[in-house]
Amino acid sequence: MKPAQDLLADVGEVLLSEEQLEAKVAELGQQITADYSGCELTLVSVLKGSLPFMADLMRNIHLPLRIDLMEVSSYGGTSTESSGLVRILKDLSAPIDGRDVLLVEDIIDTGLTLNYLIRYLKGKNPRSIKVCALLDKPARRLVEIPLDYVGFQIPDAFVVGYGLDFGEVYRNLRFVGVLRPEVYES
Ligand code: IMP
Ligand code: MG
Repeated sequence: MKPAQDLLADVGEVLLSEEQLEAKVAELGQQITADYSGCELTLVSVLKGSLPFMADLMRNIHLPLRIDLMEVSSYGGTSTESSGLVRILKDLSAPIDGRDVLLVEDIIDTGLTLNYLIRYLKGKNPRSIKVCALLDKPARRLVEIPLDYVGFQIPDAFVVGYGLDFGEVYRNLRFVGVLRPEVYES
């Protein structure tokens, strides 16, 4: 049997605590509730990293809304770097034409994934399309993207938890932490 992996020991520093995340998500929900009053809101979340954020955010938006889910994978990159080549693994399950789409993303790093997604979704004729990202790593941006709602700007470090993974692990941590470089360099 493999020894149990100590998830907490792999995290060097807690960047955002459960309490900080909860407060920020409530604040974003409040803003979105005010901004989208009277709109035909569809939240589109991108699996799998955005799952906890989406689940918490939607419950902080007090409007009638629909949700939809996409899953993409970027290929050709490594486990800590994305390539910008995006493959759609799961598409929307309902049309979005005429709807006000808010893309809910876990983290914007190079911006390549989001850039692709925005163009793709615009092709489906939504009435509007905006972006809500929990985390923004501006230091690594390669394409300019308008972010309408941002939870936190974070420094250039590889983070895990609250949906974010390294090698598909660590998504279930309740906080966002910086992964010890030894973990991904080994
Ligand atoms: P981008 O295309 O470079 O903006 O990358 C976006 C995707 O890369 C995110 O949705 C994450 O899945 C992943 N990603 C980028 N930075 C991190 C990180 O620090 N930790 C975990 N995943 C990350
Ligand atoms: Mg990932």
